[in-house]
Amino acid sequence: MPVKFTVRKVLPVKETGDVIAVGVWLSGSSSKGGRGKKPEQTPLDGFDRAMNGALLKAQKKDEFKGKKDSTLSLPIQTARVKANKLIAFGLGEHRSITEADIRTFAAKAARAANGERAKKLVLGLPAGAEQFLRAAVEGVELGAYRFTKYLTGDRKPKAELTQVTITTINEPPANAKDLVAQGQHVGHGVNLARDLSNEPPNELFPDTLVLAAKAMAKEHGLKIQAFDFAEIKKRGMKLLQAVGQGSERKPTFAHISYVPAKPKKRIIVVGKGITFDSGGISIKPAAGMGDMRHDMSGAANVVGLMAIIGALKPNVEVHGIFAAAENMPDGAAYRPGDIWGSLDGKSVEIVNTDAEGRLILADALAYARELKPDLLIDNATLTGACVVALGSTCSGYYTSNEDTAKEWSAAVAGSGEQMWRLPLIEELKDQLKSDVADLKHTGDRWGGSISAALFLREFIGTTKNWVHCDIAGPAIGDRIRGWDPKGGTGHGVLTFLKVIEHAAAAAPATV
Ligand code: BES
Ligand code: MN
Ligand code: ZN
Repeated sequence: MPVKFTVRKVLPVKETGDVIAVGVWLSGSSSKGGRGKKPEQTPLDGFDRAMNGALLKAQKKDEFKGKKDSTLSLPIQTARVKANKLIAFGLGEHRSITEADIRTFAAKAARAANGERAKKLVLGLPAGAEQFLRAAVEGVELGAYRFTKYLTGDRKPKAELTQVTITTINEPPANAKDLVAQGQHVGHGVNLARDLSNEPPNELFPDTLVLAAKAMAKEHGLKIQAFDFAEIKKRGMKLLQAVGQGSERKPTFAHISYVPAKPKKRIIVVGKGITFDSGGISIKPAAGMGDMRHDMSGAANVVGLMAIIGALKPNVEVHGIFAAAENMPDGAAYRPGDIWGSLDGKSVEIVNTDAEGRLILADALAYARELKPDLLIDNATLTGACVVALGSTCSGYYTSNEDTAKEWSAAVAGSGEQMWRLPLIEELKDQLKSDVADLKHTGDRWGGSISAALFLREFIGTTKNWVHCDIAGPAIGDRIRGWDPKGGTGHGVLTFLKVIEHAAAAAPATV
């Protein structure tokens, strides 16, 4: 059931809900108003009195002052407050607060509400946070997310969050209604990406991933073109064919487009859609192989992102493209030692069939570049090396364009998603030299995420502006339940959206 949001300028103590969660600036860090003026209100105002002094006592005991990431949780034992629980979240210094902090606060609150089996949550924004209303709504949607589709009986959640009242101290923004709707669309899109990523590989495979993309496109009035195995072969997507042919579930390819009347830019987002990565003939060890059900997180991100684009309708042309395949060992599987052509035309010597992602992406990039994008983004759970380098809560990204790098890092700051820039070190290209083909598709262990990026770069043609994201974290799954922007499924979508919205807001028309 969708969450119903209400926004109201009122003190949380006057509201009714199962849980009241409020954000609190570090004491003394907020503008208190000038001399002789009343101190600024906070969302905790009124609680101490209503609770007969229990709040101040608990604040003293726990030394709760609103420090960032501190919390204070109190059961409510008075009829004067119409809730079961009050939770205060410390937000730190008012002046250093960001959109990402408010999103995370709201997500934590929603997650706590789920933990309390709450149906109704009151979310109290502190004074000055009104401008981040959309991020707060996004956070609630993301934090309330659970993947419960396959639970039955007692394992099904007992309650679901259905109502959220967001309270403000100052007047809420005039376009509060729009901001709430936008925030919900964003949350739903990221959660769609997470749902797809979390689906098990016996249910979600190349064909059903395309069906999900089609359902999304229909709902949001987007155009979608999908290729089946015959079409993939006909078009010369040989690398996608190679990777996909060793499975009963044949590969697919999808191109979703959103084309407004006078777009400012054309941006393409490409995703890796390996619905299960066994490693193929170069099979993976058993431990953790099940995590490879998330190896289509890049494609899932594309579908979730396009759902948001279809709903928010930014003035930028956006194309979402994914190649999907199941990487399996089989009599028909491609082998180490094979030499395959590609959509680009280059020949590729196969070294290790577990490096399948870069192969299907190579064909997807060669397809995408023909659309002449101003910015070409790809995202993929591409290498274990990236997880080794950055851990499972951070993605890596590559670009050789310094302006794009700046823009990207601003987008990352706004999304709160951890993503670090990694370098395209040219020397490592030597590792991709083959004696028998134009390229070898893997290098050695060292610098594995970089050599994968260098391999992909061979397939972008003359595209000037390309960003490659090695989103390693999501392959480890939705390990951070209830959302914290670090890692987990859906990681990356908020950043891509920021880049697109920035292009829509700032750039003059280029066409
Ligand atoms: N999907 C994996 C990468 C991966 C593994 C991401 C674990 C996140 C967690 C990818 O297809 C793969 O197997 N890559 C190999 C490449 C190697 C054979 C050159 C890897 O990283 O080990
Ligand atoms: Mn692999
Ligand atoms: Zn893979």
